[in-house]
Amino acid sequence: MLVGGPSGRPALLSLLLAAVMSFFCSAISIDEARKQLLMREKMMQLGGQLVLKKDEELANKKLMALKKAEMKQFMKTQKFPPSMHFFQAKNLIEKSEVFNILKKMPKGAALHVHDFSIASMDWLVKNVTYRPHCHFCLTPNGTLMFKFAHPTPPTPAKCSEWILLEKYRKGLQNVTEFDNSLLRNFTLITENPEVTYANQDVVWSKFETIFITISGLVSYAPVFRDYILQGLEDFCQDNVFYLELRAMLLPVYELNGTIHNQEWSVKTYKEVACTFAKKHPGFIGIKIIYSDHRFKNVSLIMKSVQTAMTLRTRFPRTVAGFDLVGREDTGYSLYYYKEALMIPASQGFKLPYFFHAGETDWQGTSIDRNLLDALILNATRIGHGFALSKHPAVWTNLWKKDIPIEVCPISNQVLKLVSDLRNHPAAVLMATGYPMVISSDDPAIFGAKGLSYDFYEAFMGIGGMTADLRTLKQLAMNSIKYSALLDIEKKAAMKTWEERWNNFVADLARRPNPSSTLTVATSLAAPTGLIGPRCLNEREGSQ
Ligand SMILES: *[C@@H]1O[C@H](CO)[C@@H](O)[C@H](O)[C@H]1NC(C)=O
Ligand SMILES: *[C@@H]1O[C@H](CO)[C@@H](O)[C@H](O)[C@H]1NC(C)=O
Ligand SMILES: *[C@@H]1O[C@H](CO)[C@@H](O)[C@H](O)[C@H]1NC(C)=O
Ligand SMILES: *[C@@H]1O[C@H](CO)[C@@H](O)[C@H](O)[C@H]1NC(C)=O
Ligand SMILES: *[C@@H]1O[C@H](CO)[C@@H](O)[C@H](O)[C@H]1NC(C)=O
Ligand SMILES: *[C@@H]1O[C@H](CO)[C@@H](O)[C@H](O)[C@H]1NC(C)=O
Ligand SMILES: *[C@@H]1O[C@H](CO)[C@@H](O)[C@H](O)[C@H]1NC(C)=O
Ligand SMILES: [Zn+2]
Repeated sequence: MLVGGPSGRPALLSLLLAAVMSFFCSAISIDEARKQLLMREKMMQLGGQLVLKKDEELANKKLMALKKAEMKQFMKTQKFPPSMHFFQAKNLIEKSEVFNILKKMPKGAALHVHDFSIASMDWLVKNVTYRPHCHFCLTPNGTLMFKFAHPTPPTPAKCSEWILLEKYRKGLQNVTEFDNSLLRNFTLITENPEVTYANQDVVWSKFETIFITISGLVSYAPVFRDYILQGLEDFCQDNVFYLELRAMLLPVYELNGTIHNQEWSVKTYKEVACTFAKKHPGFIGIKIIYSDHRFKNVSLIMKSVQTAMTLRTRFPRTVAGFDLVGREDTGYSLYYYKEALMIPASQGFKLPYFFHAGETDWQGTSIDRNLLDALILNATRIGHGFALSKHPAVWTNLWKKDIPIEVCPISNQVLKLVSDLRNHPAAVLMATGYPMVISSDDPAIFGAKGLSYDFYEAFMGIGGMTADLRTLKQLAMNSIKYSALLDIEKKAAMKTWEERWNNFVADLARRPNPSSTLTVATSLAAPTGLIGPRCLNEREGSQ
């Protein structure tokens, strides 16, 4: 009626009116169309389907206000932690209010971490290397090796003579300096990472050397137990209550030379975790993903697969499955191992696989195709899946089977797959709602702890401005949903997590509004309202 052609107005006026209206209408429809697109994308993104409760909505508002303020600040300074190297960003992250909240957030489970990099390296230096009977030697290529023994054993084949640390330290002028040098041998941390690690070969060489260096310390039976405890403590303090540990189950030794087998190691993991859980109500425990090195040939991996089957039969609740570790780019492909990896299926044995796959930048190589084989071999989860967005068919099929990827942002950056974490390929997957969890891979070697640093990178960098409390909630819930816990264990875990989540949300919602003077630089103090690390308090209380 408004356009009114039939009402007999002069044609010109009619035309003019129509033009005005169509301009007006299309203006509305641009805004409307944008709104609809944004809404659709919001629904698609990870956690987008979650409906927040009233308290959560309030908490989300508080969190997003802080996030926006920080983002604004970072845009001004052009120093955005996720786009900086973690070694240089770490201090900045620790000053962030959002990071403080993430530390207190119950994050659920760490599903991708490795046996020898869960406890702080500082503890390894300050506690372990100060124990009696600790020796070290230096290989011709400068690698440090350690061994606990008494008396001092004969000089090994490819190393200097064994030096007793206790005695060596007594002769030093500056022990702190020496201890710092040990710490530099135990982590990748360096002031100028871009210069120190010119390419992936250099950083991986040092990375693998670290495992060789610390293995003599961690594989000493009394340390082995304490190391697990310390690792659980570190994660528990970071509000992570369950771990699935990729463990190589290397021989553990006693002072008198006795060497323990893999069953002993699994039993020890189980016992230590159980003891820890008893002292830390709410902590659930650990499961082991037995892992071997992808530099070994297929006949050796055949044996390992059989070992994995034996261990899983013996410890069905503790041993979750099998994986292959080490650098994908230079190791054997999953396809190369097909004969070994088909053994369980050919015997009707169910051995879940948790393959590292697609941890590469080299698209279309035989290694990049590990993702195909992970799918075909029915992997339960995919470690990293960094290259997944380059494989749409694999991606689609994995999604249909609800197979999640374990995203480890800091690891990917430190090992030089991507430098600016805003460009992490998981950004695409996160935007489409692909199932994923966030983990930390080898936090101790990267100078991180627990999961919070990786959550920060994922929340601020990978998720960008649109990631909100829904994203975080989904990530935490995913870590339980996609764990290897039994259904009944998952139910209990989800309940425990929910209780803690509700407390966390209530505290966040009750938090005073950020004042206008609040900036990244001045908000150093921990927020007062939030619950403290539950385990830490309990440990302190029980002492
Ligand atoms: C290492 O820590 C344990 C407790 O975890 C303690 O009993 C021991 O005395 C410490 N050792 C050293 C050398 O600090
Ligand atoms: C250094 O020597 C150790 C022990 O012989 C060896 O395992 C390691 O691969 C070597 N590292 C490099 C970078 O050559
Ligand atoms: C020992 O070395 C540390 C670290 O380099 C330094 O901070 C400290 O001042 C030194 N102490 C002495 C007594 O020289
Ligand atoms: C490792 O420790 C040795 C012994 O203190 C030291 O000479 C060397 O410089 C250290 N390596 C690094 C990378 O700091
Ligand atoms: C070696 O030490 C371990 C741990 O102290 C002990 O259980 C074992 O019986 C000892 N073995 C021998 C042969 O002395
Ligand atoms: C596999 O590697 C082991 C250890 O290096 C070696 O003894 C064995 O002969 C190799 N097997 C094959 C089939 O190459
Ligand atoms: C993977 O699952 C398919 C379908 O259930 C099955 O036919 C195949 O044997 C499985 N492969 C392995 C290696 O388990
Ligand atoms: Zn890994």
